[in-house]
Amino acid sequence: MPEFATVPVSPLRISFDPATASVEPAGPVLTRRMSSLEGLFADQGEWKRAVEEDDPVVYTVSSSPVPEIDRELPQSITTIRPGACGGEFYMTKGHQHPNPQGEIYLGLTGVGGLLLFDGQRTEWIDMEPGVIGYIPPHWAHRSVNVGDEPYSFLAVYPGCAGHDYQWVLDHGMGARVLRAPSGYELVPYNSR
Ligand SMILES: [Fe+2]
Repeated sequence: MPEFATVPVSPLRISFDPATASVEPAGPVLTRRMSSLEGLFADQGEWKRAVEEDDPVVYTVSSSPVPEIDRELPQSITTIRPGACGGEFYMTKGHQHPNPQGEIYLGLTGVGGLLLFDGQRTEWIDMEPGVIGYIPPHWAHRSVNVGDEPYSFLAVYPGCAGHDYQWVLDHGMGARVLRAPSGYELVPYNSR
């Protein structure tokens, strides 16, 4: 987003409006519809049906104007809609940082979880308003809405970290998060 990356950054007060899932002052906004999550849900037939029916918005990412460049500390607020595809809860694509850097997520609204995978180990952090989830370097991460209202969280990350989405397509996330009578359950990635 070069129009933001070239603007000198001053100290900022940033506010979040949960009703519109937007931040002020606003930077880039990313909208991920079901069609942009190809190959991620286990039930590809159900995924295709949803895309062809109305291609629903699964999540949005509203960033502040702080650019993703070295030494800056960008922030974004992701809001995942409630829902499931083939019993698998709505989720973000998930990514790895090609330049390994830590990151924090802070739960703002709703209930969700932070799924982490380092290629061998899988971890899950229950998220709710006020909870900080810490993502160490080298751990791929994905967020999941396990509730029935929008789940939003603040992400703060080094501007040099980068985003590698292909890593998740190649390696998976170690587990999937499915609807269950008790709310949700984690199942091994390749079990269905
Ligand atoms: Fe990240």
